Amino acid sequence: MPKQTIRDLSLEGRKVLVRVDFNVPQTKAGDVSDDRRIRAALPTLQFALDKGASLILVSHLGRPTGDPANDALFKLDKVAVRLQELIGRPVVKVNDTVGPDAIAACAALKPGGIVVLENVRFNKGEKKGDPAFAAQLAGLADAYVNDAFGTCHRDEASMVAVPERFKAEDRAIGFLVEKELHILDTLLGDPKLPMVAIMGGAKVSDKILVIQNLLPRIDKLLVGGAMTYTFLKAQGHATGKSRVEADRLDEARRLLELAGPKLVLPVDHLVADGIEATAKTQIVAGSDIPEGLFGLDIGPATIKAYSEIIQNAGTVIWNGPMGKFEDEPFRAGTKEIAEAMAASPAVTVVGGGETAEAVERFGYADKVSHVSTGGGAFLESLEGKTFNSLRVIPDR
Ligand code: 3PG
Repeated sequence: MPKQTIRDLSLEGRKVLVRVDFNVPQTKAGDVSDDRRIRAALPTLQFALDKGASLILVSHLGRPTGDPANDALFKLDKVAVRLQELIGRPVVKVNDTVGPDAIAACAALKPGGIVVLENVRFNKGEKKGDPAFAAQLAGLADAYVNDAFGTCHRDEASMVAVPERFKAEDRAIGFLVEKELHILDTLLGDPKLPMVAIMGGAKVSDKILVIQNLLPRIDKLLVGGAMTYTFLKAQGHATGKSRVEADRLDEARRLLELAGPKLVLPVDHLVADGIEATAKTQIVAGSDIPEGLFGLDIGPATIKAYSEIIQNAGTVIWNGPMGKFEDEPFRAGTKEIAEAMAASPAVTVVGGGETAEAVERFGYADKVSHVSTGGGAFLESLEGKTFNSLRVIPDR
């Protein structure tokens, strides 16, 4: 059932609390190193402003611990500055979330004005879903919009208890959440066939539920990343010094059996004598990693085979890098799979923090059909989970 969207809200002259996910990657100095999530929220923010609303923006950033020395990095000041540059109008950043500064700044808001509240996770009530905290936050605004797709799998106050404080007709999703849900509905409901999933990353354990949920829907599951070696070990192959989840071998065997010929493993590997970028690398064919060596990327024959499958697919979903792509020598697999996604006529969807970062870094983000802003939220959606944050938004 489609959800009520920001188009359905009465906006003129109203203060709209928009829960955004501005949990952006940062440099060590706390600068915004990738503003994709801020840019992704702009259509919703612009729409509300154009309709005569003012905006109260709520987000978390990082995982504050309560230690001021650690948490200073997670203040939203630099995010607010970036938003101001992107949206091209003044943004007022306040230093608290529900305290006197926030109340005063929100009370002073005029149509077209924008307030960014301080990191909502600085308040203990956020994680706990505390109703008193939720009431304070909700009290600042007339309407609520959830445009924080990346946080939809969290039951935190600003995602669930806050919207519950608003009348049903004053709660909605924004354009970003609408778009992400539409794409997920298509992937899980009515994809263009054949459908291919590419799963990489370090651990099989992170992907068990996704693989189980996708298997009946897909024609092929292409495996890469370190999880390859857990599968190879489970099949009885040598894995050298490669990362293997020893406690997941039974699980890997079960998945191999469940998937049968749908599950495709690499046919060659880039291996190295260490995991640093300076390590000596070589390509090994087959399914065994020589003793003493680490498997760190898929090899060229695998890249070619996977690229052909991607080229001939109707839909491709990709989650998890093919290798240790942050280091140049182990990058080719991830980079070339991104290139194959970009070149394919298929509907191509990329999700998960690291995979999205890779596709962005290699310059293919605009050449695939969709890069999800969700990490955990994207994966949990593919697992078939439903979220309380969306349950509290009425259907249309
Ligand atoms: C994310 O980056 O996946 C979301 O912003 C959620 O962040 P969290 O994992 O810290 O809850």
